[in-house]
Amino acid sequence: MPNYTFKLNGEKVTVDVEDSERLLWVLRDVLGVRGPKYGCGINVCKACTSHINGKAFNPCATPISALDEDDEVTTIEGLADTVPGDGLHPMQEAWLDADVAQCGYCQPGQIMAAVATVNKAHAEGRSVTDADIDEIRNICRCGTYVRIREAIKAGAGKIG
Ligand code: FES
Ligand code: FES
Repeated sequence: MPNYTFKLNGEKVTVDVEDSERLLWVLRDVLGVRGPKYGCGINVCKACTSHINGKAFNPCATPISALDEDDEVTTIEGLADTVPGDGLHPMQEAWLDADVAQCGYCQPGQIMAAVATVNKAHAEGRSVTDADIDEIRNICRCGTYVRIREAIKAGAGKIG
């Protein structure tokens, strides 16, 4: 099997897997990184949402062969290290303050989608809007959408 090297949560990792192996299974089963959740496996539920080079993507639909050596994959486990300081990421803090999670299954993906959405708006020189939040497609079977929206707005205010 071929070797693939990429950056994961700030560290270079190398895995020996088939070309067609999708990244979600590489993360969870080969590397033991379980924050990205398996919901549908077909790019619909968004439970696996992580970041590649700072943008949201769904590793269940990404073959390992699509990654380059310089690509940086960030999962919920590495999110706090993308900001200064020793604590949680401001969006994680906002999530706790708003007590968003119910069963929790979708929440790592929800937070990663939220951060990508807010960072995109900030990169465009503006605040995140309700229309931006409406475009987030992550499914929550527990129906925590109202608290998610509240937390995204609060977290956005704390992200510089
Ligand atoms: S598990 Fe990746 S989108 Fe559903
Ligand atoms: S908190 Fe249960 S699926 Fe979202």
